[in-house]
Amino acid sequence: MEGIFIGVLCLSGCLTFSTCLLHQYHFVSDAMTWTEAQSYCRETYTDLATIENTEEMKKLKDTVSAAGHSSEVWIGLYSHIDWKWSDGFNQSGAEYRNWESPDPNNFAANEFCVAMKYYGRWFDYFCHSKIPFVCYRGTLEDSDFVLVNTAKNWTEAQRHCREHYTDLVTVRNDTDREKIHKLIPSLLLVWIGLYRDPQIYWSDGSNYSFSSWYRGYNPLGSMKVVCGVADLDEGGNWRLFSCEERKPFVCYSVPTVKTLVKVRVELQDSSVDLNDPAVKEQILKEFQERLKEKGLSGVTLKWREKADGKVFHKEEKGSDKKKKTEL
Ligand SMILES: *[C@@H]1O[C@H](CO)[C@@H](O)[C@H](O)[C@H]1NC(C)=O
Ligand SMILES: *[C@@H]1O[C@H](CO)[C@@H](O)[C@H](O)[C@H]1NC(C)=O
Ligand SMILES: *[C@@H]1O[C@H](CO)[C@@H](O)[C@H](O)[C@H]1NC(C)=O
Ligand SMILES: *[C@@H]1O[C@H](CO)[C@@H](O)[C@H](O)[C@H]1NC(C)=O
Repeated sequence: MEGIFIGVLCLSGCLTFSTCLLHQYHFVSDAMTWTEAQSYCRETYTDLATIENTEEMKKLKDTVSAAGHSSEVWIGLYSHIDWKWSDGFNQSGAEYRNWESPDPNNFAANEFCVAMKYYGRWFDYFCHSKIPFVCYRGTLEDSDFVLVNTAKNWTEAQRHCREHYTDLVTVRNDTDREKIHKLIPSLLLVWIGLYRDPQIYWSDGSNYSFSSWYRGYNPLGSMKVVCGVADLDEGGNWRLFSCEERKPFVCYSVPTVKTLVKVRVELQDSSVDLNDPAVKEQILKEFQERLKEKGLSGVTLKWREKADGKVFHKEEKGSDKKKKTEL
């Protein structure tokens, strides 16, 4: 092949839920429950707002402020609260709790492990904190509780208990709890086996990796699911509430931008066939890389095939006008 060839490239942006520079936010002032707001957003736009970076945080705050609103708005965040025992215990007594009110209060949406104070009450706590812990020896039916007075984070404590005893301690009732708290020296806080996985999600299924939580409490009570707001009073930072509360909300939409671009290639090497799938793929890859360098990561590129199944056609003199109208 030799000469000048014309091909048509189809650019489409933000057709997926991937990072998209064109997330557009829409403030809705009607107060609804989180689930109602989600339905409304899915019907009217794309979904409840997803926020994936600081630029989007700013964009969302600007959208809400411009609408004259200055407090909490639902966004697409939600979380399952599912406490589990380290040893997997799930029978009668697995639901026993002895929280110190107002815990569990999930400070900064980052307290996933449970500690017992020397007087027997429980607190949800940062799993990375290093404190002593209580393991049990033998089986749960006939168990022996052991205080390990060495400061470790929850995961290290779990490993230690599993290596040297049976597991971190499971607390099934007041009898268990009293036996354990008698082991704890005054003023000490110790890990017990209760924990939960973060389980924080976006309504549209986007990856939860960026976060901007309010550095304060998110009381959980006995709720099984909690939903997220951006609180404009707290710099737009996120907090968790009962999903049943009624609040205004923010939806997002993804404009599906489609553009056709004519690509003109001058070939001097007669051994190259532009319509070879590998060659076409290679050219696409290079364009994609260049778009990425310019920060356009949500754009998909595809070649447009003509009726004969080929993309590149030799440019004929005088045919230019016809091609342009076709585009
Ligand atoms: C309790 O745990 C066992 C073993 O992991 C599992 O087979 C069973 O389904 C669980 N029961 C409940 C009620 O979750
Ligand atoms: C606990 O400490 C270990 C070792 O320093 C670390 O790898 C792990 O991530 C820590 N776990 C938590 C929950 O912070
Ligand atoms: C607590 O649970 C243990 C083990 O199931 C049982 O032996 C004990 O009687 C229970 N105590 C109370 C007060 O229910
Ligand atoms: C989400 O993130 C994980 C780990 O970073 C990655 O393996 C996975 O492919 C991502 N999922 C999506 C849908 O982007």
